Amino acid sequence: MIVLKHAKDYNEMSKMAYSFVKNVVKNNENAVLGLATGSTPIGLYKEMIADYNAGEVSYKNMVSINLDEYVGLPVEHPESYRSFMNTNLFNHVDIDKANTHVPNGLAENVEEACKEYTDFIKAHPIDIQILGIGANGHIGFNEPGTPFGSTTHLVELKEKTRLDNARFFEGDINKVPTHAVTMGLQDIMEAKQILLLASGANKAEAVRDMVYGPISPDCPASVLQLHENVIVVVDEAAGYYLKA
Ligand code: F6R
Repeated sequence: MIVLKHAKDYNEMSKMAYSFVKNVVKNNENAVLGLATGSTPIGLYKEMIADYNAGEVSYKNMVSINLDEYVGLPVEHPESYRSFMNTNLFNHVDIDKANTHVPNGLAENVEEACKEYTDFIKAHPIDIQILGIGANGHIGFNEPGTPFGSTTHLVELKEKTRLDNARFFEGDINKVPTHAVTMGLQDIMEAKQILLLASGANKAEAVRDMVYGPISPDCPASVLQLHENVIVVVDEAAGYYLKA
């Protein structure tokens, strides 16, 4: 079931989102957090850092598992998702970096590395999975057409996704990697709770299709209609087509 939460703007969306995360991290010092990159969760991560600095939460014994990583970017590249997580969250809280997991975009045997990642997720059930959504309805890098039964796998990125992400690569689509490794839809659906955030008018149609559309790989996020515990926090622009 999808529960909708309406925020005024990005700031309020981030604060609301943190109230759900706090509920998990305050009550379980061994929580397993499913994390996302991109513009959307940055405000949430700021809230997490601020509350950590206020002495409210310790991440010392927690485990994190990220959704995805570009293929071929050295980990120290500023746009690798590992760098993103270090910069936007891990460097600012007391989580043990050894317990933070991001798919390996440099594995020699990608298939083997993907299988290990899915096995790791199974062995460490995610308490709360944070998600953004692509303008084409993707979650993680599960682009339209991805089977709902997919586990961690290699994907070729759609041109639209690469264009959307070119803003992080000096606006040059040619600098955006062509492939990524992503958790599959089935891995995501195994999380105990899912918290999807969406901000901005360019997400409004994808959010509408996720919530009301047919449950179909055409809109990968529509699979979330089949999960029993999903919270979707939208700001006014992203929630434009939602009824309540
Ligand atoms: C990021 C991810 C993607 C993004 C989505 C939205 O780890 O898996 O699905 O959540 O592309 O990106 P932003 O938040 O930049 O609009």
